[in-house]
Amino acid sequence: MPQTKHKIIIGNSQTMPEIPDCSIHLMVTSPPYPMIQMWDQQFGELDPKIAALWKKIEAKPDEETVTQIYDAMHENLARVWVETFRVLVDGGIACINIGDATRTINAKFRVFPNHARIMEQCEKIGFLTLPYILWKKPTTKPMYKGKGAFLGSGFLPPNAYVTLDCEYILLFRKGKLRKFPPKDPTRYDSQLTKQQRDEWFSQIWQVTGTRQTADELERRTAAYPDEIPDRLIKMFSIKNDTILDPFVGSGTTVKVAMQNERNSIGYETDPNLRTVIVKKTENGKAGALTVKIFNR
Ligand SMILES: C[S@@+](CC[C@H](N)C(=O)[O-])C[C@H]1O[C@@H](n2cnc3c(N)ncnc32)[C@H](O)[C@@H]1O
Repeated sequence: MPQTKHKIIIGNSQTMPEIPDCSIHLMVTSPPYPMIQMWDQQFGELDPKIAALWKKIEAKPDEETVTQIYDAMHENLARVWVETFRVLVDGGIACINIGDATRTINAKFRVFPNHARIMEQCEKIGFLTLPYILWKKPTTKPMYKGKGAFLGSGFLPPNAYVTLDCEYILLFRKGKLRKFPPKDPTRYDSQLTKQQRDEWFSQIWQVTGTRQTADELERRTAAYPDEIPDRLIKMFSIKNDTILDPFVGSGTTVKVAMQNERNSIGYETDPNLRTVIVKKTENGKAGALTVKIFNR
């Protein structure tokens, strides 16, 4: 198996000066989800404007401030999508796993359609939107009055809510289709099986999320099973390509890139994840010792 290269930068991926233009073949990521409570503090730390808006809401909740927070969270993510566009090769693909959020603020329950916001932002940046995948997760319980459990009176119409039990895997391309020489051996060596092609190129994926634990650090990274990046990497890249994950978390994309003989580069703001990443990538099959982690 050829030795591949893997580099993780502990730093903010809103700028990626370490990566030259047009040098990444595929981006696979799962960012923090705007308006999911678990990520509020991190968005606030990255952007003091967001922290100040939350303080404003605590003092006096109002609809306009909620919208400003939601907008600002997506503006922060969009900076990463702009950088991704710069570093992707012509024909490179971006895969973004995102869930919508439901939240009750000021006694008002509503959905925040994160997938739609990201699609709008990526179109504006210049990406071409491709048909997306719906990842059906069996874990979430149906909703009633904004709570994650179905109460008995949920049988009575009309006040129950539909459960958000799907996440999106949004797919975008930069520019035209990638070109390869005829009978390119690496491309043929990366070929999918018939079963993989038939199953993976359909729109609904039923993949079980990994175990959620009580530990805060693990909770923020644990729901992302290897199978999601494994499929995406096999579908949208060939061996020896370079894969980017700008929100690396515990390092699942890097581990799976190694196993699939691809190179990888990842960014992570939380230095506490360093040991988690090392542990996970050491458990990967190939090239584990070549992972290098850099502090900015
Ligand atoms: C949903 S988790 C990713 C989980 C990941 N797929 C895994 O395998 O564990 C998002 C991660 O992005 C990190 N993050 C958030 N904003 C970031 C930014 N601007 N640059 C780099 N990392 C960021 C968070 O600290 C968090 O670990």
